[in-house]
Amino acid sequence: MPFMKLLTIHNKGTEQVVMVDKKKRKGGSVPVSSLGHVAIAVPDLDIAMNFYKEHFGCEVSEPVVVDTQLIRMAYVHLGDTNLELMEPIGEESPISKFIERNPNGGIHHICLRVPEVSKAADGARRAGLRILSGEELAKGYEGQDLFFLHPKDTFGTLIEIE
Ligand code: CO
Repeated sequence: MPFMKLLTIHNKGTEQVVMVDKKKRKGGSVPVSSLGHVAIAVPDLDIAMNFYKEHFGCEVSEPVVVDTQLIRMAYVHLGDTNLELMEPIGEESPISKFIERNPNGGIHHICLRVPEVSKAADGARRAGLRILSGEELAKGYEGQDLFFLHPKDTFGTLIEIE
């Protein structure tokens, strides 16, 4: 049988059995160490940077262009973690569609740090979690490996692993 019983949920006298596809579940996992950043897509990076400086007194990094993702972005430093503010560059940018749907901007993804990205990718594959870039890992603005998990596999939240 390709499916196995994962757990049984008892709710108000009804019983629901949750099954999982055995092929998709081979004990993989993605142990994370901390929250890397929360990324917020914004229509105008400079206005958003000033907002965090003026209203919250935050330290904000110099903006950088990330060619590989067609965005301009800056980090808002918050102790051990960051907010990543990102503005799309041109209509081809993957963030453009998000801004079309959310003209004021909004939370786009969260980033979880792992000790080793390639190991985490293997773990994700074994756990049956889809990696958006497929077999390849993506590259961050400093050339570091990273990947995104399919939001349909992660309760609707786009998760970056770095
Ligand atoms: Co990110």
